[in-house]
Amino acid sequence: MKKEEYSFSFEVYNSIDDLLPGDARLVSEARNVTANAYAPYSHFNVGAVAKLANGQTVIGTNQENAAYPVGICAERVLLSSAATLFPNIAIDTLAISYNNKNGKSNHPISPCGICRQTLLEYEDRVKQPIRLILSGLEGKIYIIKKASQLLPLSFGGDDLK
Ligand code: THU
Repeated sequence: MKKEEYSFSFEVYNSIDDLLPGDARLVSEARNVTANAYAPYSHFNVGAVAKLANGQTVIGTNQENAAYPVGICAERVLLSSAATLFPNIAIDTLAISYNNKNGKSNHPISPCGICRQTLLEYEDRVKQPIRLILSGLEGKIYIIKKASQLLPLSFGGDDLK
């Protein structure tokens, strides 16, 4: 028997003021775009903004449905739009923020399991990692080098070969 270990490190910033100007702009846009979310059931508005390798910006927000499981997260709305508008263009950085209308929005949130799998597929298909910036409307900000780091021992296209 042999033990394997998985670990990864990420950056923690105290506020948007500590970020590089380009990253601060993306976080600010992600915070603003939460206003476009359709979240009448959870009242948890999520906004995502991506800077693509071709310089374009793509946004996404969560879109809920009275039939709850039909709702879709901001990250997957963004990834579907990016892949449709700019096929095979890598995403350099993706900023995610939220406005919790029922509570606080003062700590970073991290993508759900389905979104992690979707992010991984995107990284695989364009062969470039997606850098993530996670934040609330205020408070600490996390920067993660590759979305795939959030999904160790993942299942992917190579497994189907
Ligand atoms: N949600 C996202 O859009 N992204 C996340 O990273 C976490 C959760 C949405 C799904 C649902 O509309 C609401 O937030 C509450 O879970």
